[in-house]
This record gives sequence, structure tokens and C-alpha cells, in this order.
Amino acid sequence: MIVGLPKETYPQERRVALAPASLAGLAKAGISVVVEAGAGATAGFSDQSYVEKGARLAASRQELFQQADVIVQVRAAGANPQAAQADLELFRTGQTLIALAEPLSRPQDVLPLAQRGVTLLALELIPRITRAQGMDVLSSMATLAGYKAVLLAADNLPRVFPLLMTAAGTLSPAHMLVIGAGVAGLTAIAVGRRLGAVVEGYDIRPEAAEQVQSLGARFVKLPLETEVAKGTGGYAAAQADEVLLRQRQLLGEVIARQDVVIATAAVPGRKAPVLIDRAAVEAMADGSVIVDLAAEQGGNCELTVAGQTIRHGGATIIGAVNLPSSVPHHASQMFSHNVSALLTHLVKDGRIVMGGGDEILRSITVCHDGQVVLPQAAQSPGQPQPKSQ
Ligand code: NAI
Repeated sequence: MIVGLPKETYPQERRVALAPASLAGLAKAGISVVVEAGAGATAGFSDQSYVEKGARLAASRQELFQQADVIVQVRAAGANPQAAQADLELFRTGQTLIALAEPLSRPQDVLPLAQRGVTLLALELIPRITRAQGMDVLSSMATLAGYKAVLLAADNLPRVFPLLMTAAGTLSPAHMLVIGAGVAGLTAIAVGRRLGAVVEGYDIRPEAAEQVQSLGARFVKLPLETEVAKGTGGYAAAQADEVLLRQRQLLGEVIARQDVVIATAAVPGRKAPVLIDRAAVEAMADGSVIVDLAAEQGGNCELTVAGQTIRHGGATIIGAVNLPSSVPHHASQMFSHNVSALLTHLVKDGRIVMGGGDEILRSITVCHDGQVVLPQAAQSPGQPQPKSQ
């Protein structure tokens, strides 16, 4: 089987879907790789480094698409809505695309791939089950986003993070709250602690308390008198408006004593819950910083603007987007590890066998056989009905 690795086309994207270090493992599984010139350059991987690990350089993007059975990308379809359109005519019937594709939030962008006969496997749909942990791109990227969010906060804060006792006086440590103790949040807590901040963590799932405390942070327990909806599979459920209102009121008091808030609360496939209102921002001390990782899902802070850093009163609010791309080398290394684990899991005797009982393959299949088969992505009018797999 031939896997094609094209250059990413999303604006300012610096990651690449496969790193040279993964190629030996793929070769053992009977998978050879053809690379577009310059595909890994922004992540620090030269064309030569791919060739040394057995890849072939394609003469052009067109040739790469012609030769590959499977195309692997970081961002395609709905995760790269404008630029990815130029690739549509390069795909051919029967080809497979593995990438982040936003099938749930932008189903309109996966339809043209289905119409072209492409099988789309969307990486954001990898189930969070033990067997698939090594393939979980979202967790890998959230780990890096959590790390980078703390660095951004530190860089924008007019104070230092650690307690410093110096001949010029004692500097008090920064106080930091992390909202949402999932993958990104727990990393942010760990990094904030290492930098010396006094860290508190909050999550609506009570079971997160133990993880927050194991990292040396204080768990914030809110007296929510209202009924909290319980999620499944380690995820939170979307909450009723009155729960969110009560959360905002109670969190406001906690936020007022922070120098830094890292907001990561998310419910898969839903708009992010608004947990920081204008009043909470206005109650923060001058110089405070909020880094909102949920910016692309609408933001955990009501004032967040995705992709922008704004000031409101004395506070700075960073609407962080695509942070993993700002650490492209390690982000690509992790992404590549995940994609390779998926490929070696899926490819048997040189091909991906569709339609079997494999839970992972079933979960990530968005388009196949000319149709959008993922029910949640097949809702747009005029679209072919999903068939059962
Ligand atoms: P996750 O699902 O592991 O964690 C989210 C946490 O939020 C869960 O622990 C959940 O219980 C909690 N949560 C949900 N609703 C809540 C509520 N009402 N109150 C308190 N906590 C609540 O998600 P992960 O992987 O850690 O990602 C977090 C966010 O970061 C997501 O929005 C993700 O899209 C975003 N992200 C942003 C990046 C960027 O560059 N801006 C890069 C990677 C991820």
C-alpha cells in the first residue's frame, strides 16, 4: 500500500501528518510512503530525512495524489475549508483520506469528498477507548495546547509565576485557575505548577478532583444546588442553562482571586460552555490573563474572540487557536505516532478492509462508497441517505 504525504495548505499550519521516524514501522507493515517536496519543512523534517527512511519524493502534488492509495493530512475538508477545495479534483474514486476533517461541525465540507468516491476517515472521531489511546490525535494535540497555553499566559502576565525571595524583596507567586480538567487542563495544571504558580483546578466531573490533586493543585468544588447532567465515557454532558448560570456566578468568586485563568472546558461536538462572564473578567486584578483554549468552539469566556488577543479593562483575553501548530516539531511527532498506529491497525494484507466489525474503523468512517455514512454528518438537505455499515 502507498501512503501519500502532501504539504499542508491550511494558512499558517506548520505541522505535517507523518514524521520520518514513523516510516520504518510503516514499512514493516507493508506500507510505503510518497512525500511531496517540502511537506515536513516547517516542522523541521527535510525531504532528505524522509528519503533516508525509505520514502520516495513525488515529482508534484498531482503525481502524489495519482500514486497514493491513502492520503494522510493534518487538516482537510472542514478543518481546512477554503484551501482544501483545490485538492478535490486530485482525489480519485476508491482513495482513502485520513485527516482532521470537522465532519460534525462542518458536514457540508465532507459531502464533496463523498461525491468524489473518497473514503474519509476523520481523526477527531477516534474513540477514547484504551485500545485506541495510541491513535488519539485530539489528546496528543490537547496536551501540547495545555502546555503552550501556560507559556502564553506567563508571557503576557506582568508578574512572574514562582515565589522568589531575593535581596530586592519577596515576589509572591502567581495564582492560576484551570477550568476543565481534561487532557489540556491537566497538562496546564502540571506546567503551571512546574513554573511555580499556585494552581487551582475545576471541572464539573467530580471524579476529576483526584487527578487535579495528584498534580499538586487544589480542586475547586462548587456548591451547585441545581441538577448536574452526567456524561459518559469520561466526557462531561452539556448542562442546562440554569446550571451554567449558577456555575458562572460561583466561578466568578474564584476567578476574582486569580492572576491567570486557563479555560479548557469542552463537551464533544457542542459549543463550549460559557463559564466566565463579563462581570467575572471585570472583577479580576489589572494585568490578569485569560487563555481561552475553547475559542474555536465559541469560547469559555463570553468576551473571547477566536484568534485574537483583546484587552477588557485591566485583563488580557487570548482567544487561542491552533496552538499545536506553534510547536510543530513535537506536534508532528505525536500526530505521526497516532496516524501510524491507526494505519498499522487498519491495514491488513495491503489494504483497509471496510465494513467489518472493527469499532475504531466504524467510529471514524465519515464517507464511503459515494455516500456520507456518518449519521451525524449526513443531515444536510439534498444529501444521500446514510447507509448502514
Ligand atoms: P477534554 O474533553 O479532555 O476536557 C474537557 C473538560 O472540560 C472535561 O474534563 C470536561 O469534564 C470539562 N467540562 C465540560 N463542561 C464543563 C463545565 N460546564 N464546567 C466545567 N468543566 C466542564 O478536552 P481536551 O482535549 O482537554 O480539550 C479542551 C479544549 O481545548 C477543547 O475545546 C479543545 O477543542 C481545545 N483545544 C484547543 C486547541 C487550541 O489550539 N486552541 C488545541 C487543542 C485542543
